[in-house]
Amino acid sequence: MPPEVDLSIRLTPTCTLSSPVLIASGALGFADTIEGAVDLEGAGAFITPTLTLLSRQGNPMPRTVEVSAGLIHANGLPNPGLSAFVQEDLPRLLSLPCPLIVSIHGESREAWQVLAGRLSAIQGIVGLEMNLTPTSLHSDGFRYGDVPNEAEALQYIAESLKSVRAVTSLPLIAKLPNIGAEIGAASRAAVEGGADVIAVSQAFPAVAIRLSGSQFRLPGVVGGLSGPAVKPLSLYQVWRVAQSVSVPIIGTGGVMCGEDALEFLMAGATAVGVGTANFIHPNASSQILLEIRAWMERSGVGEVAALAGLANKKG
Ligand SMILES: Cc1cc2nc3c(=O)[nH]c(=O)nc-3n(C[C@H](O)[C@H](O)[C@H](O)COP(=O)(O)O)c2cc1C
Repeated sequence: MPPEVDLSIRLTPTCTLSSPVLIASGALGFADTIEGAVDLEGAGAFITPTLTLLSRQGNPMPRTVEVSAGLIHANGLPNPGLSAFVQEDLPRLLSLPCPLIVSIHGESREAWQVLAGRLSAIQGIVGLEMNLTPTSLHSDGFRYGDVPNEAEALQYIAESLKSVRAVTSLPLIAKLPNIGAEIGAASRAAVEGGADVIAVSQAFPAVAIRLSGSQFRLPGVVGGLSGPAVKPLSLYQVWRVAQSVSVPIIGTGGVMCGEDALEFLMAGATAVGVGTANFIHPNASSQILLEIRAWMERSGVGEVAALAGLANKKG
């Protein structure tokens, strides 16, 4: 018999998860698309697509294009809005076989506070992930030149955190934007604002062109690149954040298999998010957890928590 391994991780003092493999925001919709079709037994938590106060239609189609070693998406945060989410989606999401983290984005200070306040009053949500990419960039902001400078980006991160921290005691995960501010500085601003956990990385700004027709492939030109293409960039962000702050990190970006996940843990992550891999195999999180377990058994590692930042300790 192989030795028993402990796969649990402590995200915050009040939030322990049975697995370090989390479903990244947006990867599997709002549960209506996945019920009965996806094995979530290996998932430490399910992070919803980003929810806004009012419903959003999202961007025109097409919203996703396949590129070498990745996917570019430009969804524009389609979601039902807070009220419909609470009434219609939440009961289903709370009955999934893993804990629920809700991703939120406030289009104003007041919107951040209403979202966080209302969700905090609901039993069963184990944490809030704040999608800190500025509102203008979720739609066509890039096209029209709304990229913030670093001082603005850091102020936006810190103030968004402070406004949400003031209305909730739920664990707060700051999912940092990867434009506007250097990622180490962004993580410090988030922690100073009250973040308990940092999540990196968000999908990276990217463009794809169709030669026949000489056209951009997405109607809004710019989308977010995810999948294997971004893994080394995301590993860098995890490493950099680990040098900058001492809170737990969720590392996301191109985790396709157990070995990828282990690399993120060794770079400094406490948990990994799995996004694009779910589009290839809907049971990706369970398979990745099996592979982590098998590697730990082979390597004589008893606790997954002991892997966080291992490479940093070795230098
Ligand atoms: C189709 C799609 C939708 C996404 N939706 C969201 C979202 O609503 N909120 C968010 O913070 N990130 C969203 N993401 C980004 C992922 O959560 C993740 O940060 C990124 O894709 C990198 O991880 P991956 O390479 O494993 O996909 C989305 C990604 C994809 C591919």
